[in-house]
Amino acid sequence: MTTKSILVLPGDGVGPEVMAQALRVLDRICETSDLVVTLEHDLVGGASIEANGVPLTDQTLASAKAADAVLFGSVGGPQWDAEPFDNRPEIAILKLRSELGLFANLRPAIVFDPLVDASTLKAEVVRGLNIMIVRESTGGIYFGEPRGIETLADGTKRGVNTEVYTTHEIERVARVAFELAGKRQGRLMSVEKANVMESGLLWRQTVQALHDRDYVDVTLNHMYADNCAMQLARNPRQFDVIVTTNLFGDLLSDLASMLTGSLGLLPSATLGAPDANGRRPALYEPIHGSAPDIAGQGIANPLAQILSLAMLLRWSFGMEDEARRVERACVTALEVGARTKDLGGDLTTQEMGDAVLAALTGAEMAG
Ligand code: IPM
Ligand code: MG
Repeated sequence: MTTKSILVLPGDGVGPEVMAQALRVLDRICETSDLVVTLEHDLVGGASIEANGVPLTDQTLASAKAADAVLFGSVGGPQWDAEPFDNRPEIAILKLRSELGLFANLRPAIVFDPLVDASTLKAEVVRGLNIMIVRESTGGIYFGEPRGIETLADGTKRGVNTEVYTTHEIERVARVAFELAGKRQGRLMSVEKANVMESGLLWRQTVQALHDRDYVDVTLNHMYADNCAMQLARNPRQFDVIVTTNLFGDLLSDLASMLTGSLGLLPSATLGAPDANGRRPALYEPIHGSAPDIAGQGIANPLAQILSLAMLLRWSFGMEDEARRVERACVTALEVGARTKDLGGDLTTQEMGDAVLAALTGAEMAG
C-alpha cells in the first residue's frame, strides 16, 4: 500500500467545478490500485481573499510544503479587480511557485486524434502533435528586482521590471528539459532573445555548455522567441521539447495550447528539486484559468484538471500505469463523442466526468 497526501486547492471560477471531477477520478484510481490518499482541502486566490483577506495564508503555504503534491484549480476573477496589486488572487500561484521552489513548469500540448478538427489550424498541420514546453517558473522578469512604479520629479511615472537569470537557474531548468527530451524524440529547442537581451545570451551560452558537458545525446537547437511563436503556428510538429524563460514560456504555452483545439484540455506540472530522500515539491494545475465568463454554469471542460491529476500520478507518485489509464480514459471519452461546450458539444462538466469514469471502468472490465 502506498499512502500519499495531496493538498487540494480548487480556487475560483470554474476551478471547484472541474476539481470535483478530477477527485472522482482519483477516487476510482484509489479503488482500483494500492494507492491510499489523504486529501486536505483549502481555499486559495479570491476565495481565500474573501475568507482570510489574503490570496494565500501562511497556513495554506505550510500545508502545501508538507503535502506530497498540490492539486490546484485556478484563481482570479473580476470580483477582485480592485484588490491592491500585491494582494491579487494570482499572487497565490506566484507565491506557491517561488516558496516551494517550483522552477520547472511542464506544459504539454498534445493533439488528441478525435479532436484533430477542433484546432483552428488545418488538421494536416497539427495531427499527431506532441510538444512539451518546459517553462522556467521561479525567475526571470516575474520575480526580478528592481521592480515597481515610481513617480518622477516632473510628476510622471516610471514602471520597472527586471529580467534576470543566473547560471544556476538556467542549468537546473535546462537539465529537466534535457532529461525529458532524452526520453522522448531526443530534440530540445532552447528559446530566448539572445539577439537583444544579455540575460538571453547567458541563457543560450549556458544551455549550450550544459549540452556539451552532459547531454550530447540530445539534439540541441536555439531559437529566438519571436521566431518560435511564428514557427509554432507555421509548423508546430518540428518541436519536441522547448525550454524557455518564465515570460516567453507564459506566452508560447498559451499559443501552443490553442493548437490543440481548446484551452480546456491542457494540464501542467510544476516541479521543484528533489530533496535528499528523492521527494520533490510539485503542483499540478490546468492551464486554462478560472474562466469567470462560464463559472457557476457547470459547463466547463474538466479534462485539463483530470489530465493534471494524471501528471500528478506520474510525476509525484511514480504511478506511470495509472497516469496512462487516466489519459487513455480521457481520449476514449473523446473518441466516443463526449464533448463539452468548448469542443462544440453540450455535455455538462459532470457528464464529461461521467464519460471519463465510464471509460476508466470500461477499460478495467476489458482487462
Ligand atoms: C499561467 C498564468 C499565470 C502566469 C498567472 C495567473 C499569474 O498565466 O500560469 O500561465 O502568468 O504565470
Ligand atoms: Mg499564462
